[in-house]
Amino acid sequence: MTDQPPSKSSGVRDYFDRTAQSLPTFTVLNYGFSSDPEDSAIPAEEPEFYCLRLYEHALRSIPILDAEVLEVSCGRGGGAGFVSRTYRPRRLVGVDLSPENVRLAQARTAEAVEFRVGSAEGLDFPDQSFDVVINIGASHLYESRARFFAEAWRVLRRGGHFCYSDGCWADDDCSEDLLSVGFELLERREITANVLRALRRDSPRRAALFDALPNRELREQYKNWGGVVGYRAYERFAAGQTRYFSPRLRRPEASEPLPAPRGPRTLSRCFPRAALHYRYWFRARLRARYRLPRPPARICRTASPTPPAAASRCRSACAPRVHRGDRS
Ligand SMILES: C[S@@+](CC[C@H](N)C(=O)[O-])C[C@H]1O[C@@H](n2cnc3c(N)ncnc32)[C@H](O)[C@@H]1O
Repeated sequence: MTDQPPSKSSGVRDYFDRTAQSLPTFTVLNYGFSSDPEDSAIPAEEPEFYCLRLYEHALRSIPILDAEVLEVSCGRGGGAGFVSRTYRPRRLVGVDLSPENVRLAQARTAEAVEFRVGSAEGLDFPDQSFDVVINIGASHLYESRARFFAEAWRVLRRGGHFCYSDGCWADDDCSEDLLSVGFELLERREITANVLRALRRDSPRRAALFDALPNRELREQYKNWGGVVGYRAYERFAAGQTRYFSPRLRRPEASEPLPAPRGPRTLSRCFPRAALHYRYWFRARLRARYRLPRPPARICRTASPTPPAAASRCRSACAPRVHRGDRS
């Protein structure tokens, strides 16, 4: 039997499982959102105010009352609990790859949310079973972001909303991937400045929780990906190497189900070069139609925050290429 290299997903799952044990305090794990004025219904004394603000922002003007909602990569459930008590959906399901995060979510969320272990890239739900899909600060961790977008599209009902928000490398706002799956882009919004503002305000709380850890190496690691001012993830946003987007998206009313995946004799397998040319042509058409900027030369796609194991795999895979922003 040959040794298989561990997949990105298994590394990510183990990483979040370990973190759930070493840092259980956080119930929300994103970089947050802040605006001036801070136009929010969340009580100012809420300790995870800025992280919940990102949920509040991502769900802006989406009808959730009485809707069936799925949160993909719900982490430890703090965001799902907030959505349940604030917007009162009829049903809310949270799915996450990390069994330890799901365990924390089940143990600590008072609201009626169903939490399950599962993968974003193979959602275990029938077609068109939700009115809203939420995904916050997680898609950069997936093996294939495009596969997840196709899954989100599949489980959404026609006219359903996709509340999506994540950071990415500066040349990649993921609009092309979203449009090629068939989503309608209602609003394309960059929120990097809001994320930086939130991180500056939240940095003392984050740093204090990381500093309480006995292991020095772990403290530094968490500060690097946890958005503490002066550390890697924050500095990448501040330098414009990474950006944060929160587009508003909808599955069009008239959309047909995606064609079922074919067997081994797909076009791309039989004619890989032709399939590649078709993909470039299709993307160019989308860019022209929605006036999207042309992406610059290819760079390593590991977005921040990246668990260290994934970052080092990416570094070695991308060694001959430019690995933008990697200063470690
Ligand atoms: C940065 S956390 C964000 C969690 C939550 N959205 C929040 O804001 O608190 C990313 C989450 O994505 C989950 N995740 C990573 N890869 C995943 C995958 N392939 N499928 C489902 N969840 C995944 C991780 O386990 C982790 O809980």
